[in-house]
Amino acid sequence: MTAETHQERVRMYDAQFAADPGGVYEALRARYGNYAPAELAPGVPVTLVLGYDAALEVLRDPGTFPKDPRRWQATMAPDCPVLPVMGYRPSVLYTDGAEHARFRVTITESFGQVPSSAMREYIEQSADAIIDGFAADGEADLCAQYGVRLPLLVFNRLFGCPPDIADRLVRGLSMVAELVNAEAGGAMFVQAALDLAKLKRARPGADIVSAMLAHPAGLTDEEMGNQIGMLVATGTDAVANLIANALHLLLSDDRFGGDLSGGSLPIEDALDEVLWTDPPVANFGFTYPVRDVEREGYVMPADQPVGIAYRAVNTDPSKQTDERIGNRAHLAFSAGPHTCPAKNPARIIASAAIEKLLDRLPDLDLAVSPDELQWRPGPFHRSLAALPVRFTPVPVLTPTPEPLPVGPRFPVRVPAPSAPSAPSAPAVEDREDSSVLGRLTAWWKG
Ligand code: HEM
Repeated sequence: MTAETHQERVRMYDAQFAADPGGVYEALRARYGNYAPAELAPGVPVTLVLGYDAALEVLRDPGTFPKDPRRWQATMAPDCPVLPVMGYRPSVLYTDGAEHARFRVTITESFGQVPSSAMREYIEQSADAIIDGFAADGEADLCAQYGVRLPLLVFNRLFGCPPDIADRLVRGLSMVAELVNAEAGGAMFVQAALDLAKLKRARPGADIVSAMLAHPAGLTDEEMGNQIGMLVATGTDAVANLIANALHLLLSDDRFGGDLSGGSLPIEDALDEVLWTDPPVANFGFTYPVRDVEREGYVMPADQPVGIAYRAVNTDPSKQTDERIGNRAHLAFSAGPHTCPAKNPARIIASAAIEKLLDRLPDLDLAVSPDELQWRPGPFHRSLAALPVRFTPVPVLTPTPEPLPVGPRFPVRVPAPSAPSAPSAPAVEDREDSSVLGRLTAWWKG
């Protein structure tokens, strides 16, 4: 089945999908089965994979389902609004085989240097600083004022990103995500990521970008800019959505404590539940078969995207389980060679963020009824537009909190030999482990 016209295809970018993704997926599943036609933007057809086993097959077979979008991209108008997200870049997301492995190992081995205990402590400090910004107000929008800010702050600090570059990354990213002036937003974002790579090449520091630059895989500035952009783009929005969606569940579902008063707060359970039933990434994991592929009577046309509908595959009726809590077999982080390399950091950021918030504001409650909440339209994310809450005002912890979001809060400790203007710091050879990775680890350990 491939004959749907533009008018007939279900629109993943409209308000109906944002309001009721479960209903839209179930209608598609009832009509088409495990593979369904839909539209990502006007005139941009996609096959959505709705079945769990079908998704695993696509994700694990890069020979039939390669990640390179360029043949498809050549059929799209240059101003197609999804191109800033889906268009080719030399990065981990659009490559396969040895090229993909080279990018991926650079990322995983650099992130792997950060001990999770140190990461949790660091997130808590960032969370405290952000909560201080609204603690005395008695009300807040936990999306804009917390969920969105926290991962950005954590990334700025992890990446040693100065405020001017951070600002361009954030503004460009939000233009792309909202599909508003997406082309200009994408260009701003890519330039900012490239500027960060060049800055860290000239002046390496105790940060993940410097660790990636020092990796033996030897990525060029352009390749580094593309990996940085990919990490920020895939990481911050998804973590923000995970935080907000889990808080939404904790605050609105009696199984998780309702108003949170009294009793323990099963944050990890809420994260499991959200990753199964309301995952932060909606439709993604795009692949581009180079010839028609037929499955179960459905033809996925050559050079058209095939995407994974993560919520639909997780709720595939043929795989239903009552045991979601503690069960990590969901596909919210995808699977196969492109499975999310940051599952653990993502969970740590979300759970530490929620724990800290509930610790500081123990009587947190929704300020509107759950059915008044709105979701942001867009084909790629599952994202609340706002999460208004009220609480008893509490004192700030630091009397003069700094404005947020901000750049790195830690000193660049090691001057690059080629950068005489870098801040003074102990000589590299004075340190126990003088590699950038060693310095990064030492910094994390305090
Ligand atoms: C709740 C948080 C997160 C969710 C739900 C999530 C989900 C996903 C999914 C579904 C994919 C597969 C995309 C594809 O196959 O095209 C993916 C890939 C990826 N994610 Fe995450 N992610 C999260 C957080 C993060 C964070 C914090 C980072 C960075 C620190 C990150 C970095 C990446 C990268 C680089 C890839 C591409 C991997 C590859 O192609 O080999 N993600 N993620």
